Amino acid sequence: MPHRQRSGSGRLPTAAQGRTSRPGRCPRTLRAAASLDLTPGRPDHQPNPPPTRDQGVRTHEGSRQSSRGQGCRVRRRCARAEGSHEAAGTIVEVGAGVENLRVGDRVALESHLPCGHCFACRTGDAHTCERTQILGMHFDGVFAERVAVPHRICVPLPDGVPLETGALLESAGVAVHAIQRAGYSVAGRGVLVSGAGPVGMVVARLASLMGAAYVMVIEPNPFRRAEAERLGVITMEPGDGVTQRSRELSGHRGGADVAFECSEAASALPTLFDAVRREGTVVTVGHPGRPVPIDVAAQINKRGITPRGIFGRRLWETWEQTLLLLNSGRLDLDWLITHRLQLSQVDEAMELLTGDACKVLLVPGLG
Ligand SMILES: NC(=O)c1ccc[n+]([C@@H]2O[C@H](COP(=O)([O-])OP(=O)(O)OC[C@H]3O[C@@H](n4cnc5c(N)ncnc54)[C@H](O)[C@@H]3O)[C@@H](O)[C@H]2O)c1
Ligand SMILES: [Zn+2]
Repeated sequence: MPHRQRSGSGRLPTAAQGRTSRPGRCPRTLRAAASLDLTPGRPDHQPNPPPTRDQGVRTHEGSRQSSRGQGCRVRRRCARAEGSHEAAGTIVEVGAGVENLRVGDRVALESHLPCGHCFACRTGDAHTCERTQILGMHFDGVFAERVAVPHRICVPLPDGVPLETGALLESAGVAVHAIQRAGYSVAGRGVLVSGAGPVGMVVARLASLMGAAYVMVIEPNPFRRAEAERLGVITMEPGDGVTQRSRELSGHRGGADVAFECSEAASALPTLFDAVRREGTVVTVGHPGRPVPIDVAAQINKRGITPRGIFGRRLWETWEQTLLLLNSGRLDLDWLITHRLQLSQVDEAMELLTGDACKVLLVPGLG
């Protein structure tokens, strides 16, 4: 079936080669917006009227966004199915109050819209803003042919970065943030990654690129384990053997130096605390659906393990870092794409994500 064909070369680089358009409330402070169009080049396409102050912005499908204020319009080229908040596109209209973007600019979208005024926002930690609004959750997401978004979440793409790659950047940025949160300390280190979803895969890839002594990926899904193996990393299933294998790999060090939890499985976290060495680091990315008990006395006090967590991307340090890596040619993300579907195939895309898939792109106008 055509939609199940792999992307481009379909080859992974080796280590050596270096929902919805829920009409949610928009923030009262929103000053400008962009709308995304998913059908570039369609003959019957007519741009929607530009958003004006105190006027709602219509998507191409006719659903409304409750955004206020000035706005701009973006033609979206592709979006990932899962989450409804990962997209890239081309701007087709810009509102009167938007000075940093022009029609024709190609942009990726940051999914978090921090308030910009609180202590965290004013001191460089906007990723922790407690008034953050999230694309697809607090305001309309990207499963539409055209959506309006605040201009502040548009990230211009360098010329060499295709729109499809742009649609991967929000998620890849989570992985880059995890590496940043570990102090970039993966070179020469033993690295564990729990979960070979798109985030864990990019963490593993980055750790390899940055010179990790070894990377072991823990993943129950055989398809995703096989994908991880193509990165040249060690893989294994979750379970009792993880700690033992980690100790075998690290010898007298007593465990891996750093572990990244990218699965959200509650059972994964205690295992990672066991599998890192004394004074090791555990970075949590996945959000377990319930509190996870950790033996503070044994793991944090006596073994000296440092737990760290991340939320989204550092604004805008993570984007700058990710774009630098992409632009330099060191980091390639396109191998994450296993399927391309039409926008109308959202349900099918969701099904795929529970099986043999990694990144599923919804590409408007796909033949
Ligand atoms: N902290 C943040 O800001 C942030 C941002 C984005 C995503 N996330 C979370 O990060 C996680 C990774 O994102 P993703 O898009 O790669 O998700 P994903 O669901 O595609 O990947 C998770 C992977 O973990 C695997 N898994 C399940 N149980 C496991 C176990 N016990 N041990 C190891 N692996 C196991 C799954 O098979 C899957 O391949 C998700 O939980 C997501 O919600 C967090
Ligand atoms: Zn804030």
